[in-house]
Amino acid sequence: MPKLIVVNRAGEESTIDVADGLTVMEAIRDNGFDELLALCGGCCSCATCHVQVDPAFFDKLPKISEDEDDLLESSDHRGQTSRLSCQIPFTSDLDGLKVTIAPED
Ligand code: FES
Repeated sequence: MPKLIVVNRAGEESTIDVADGLTVMEAIRDNGFDELLALCGGCCSCATCHVQVDPAFFDKLPKISEDEDDLLESSDHRGQTSRLSCQIPFTSDLDGLKVTIAPED
């Protein structure tokens, strides 16, 4: 199974196996990271699933939508590689992807 590396807000790194068909947000949430609130359940309307993506993988991700871009603009912690994790389907191409849960807004 492809692996996702998650860095929590304390800087601790964990590696999780991700089943087919999940988004990065679902994989993080289902593995007990309660820092990632994902309040809207993945419909791109809350921005509480904000992560910073490892730059090495950034270009492999699906293009950012206008809605996602607008939501990220509302964050005080937007960085060069910020994405909403619910908008990233986790595929085998992304095996080894590292994401860091963004600070709370
Ligand atoms: S879970 Fe709400 S925008 Fe991603």
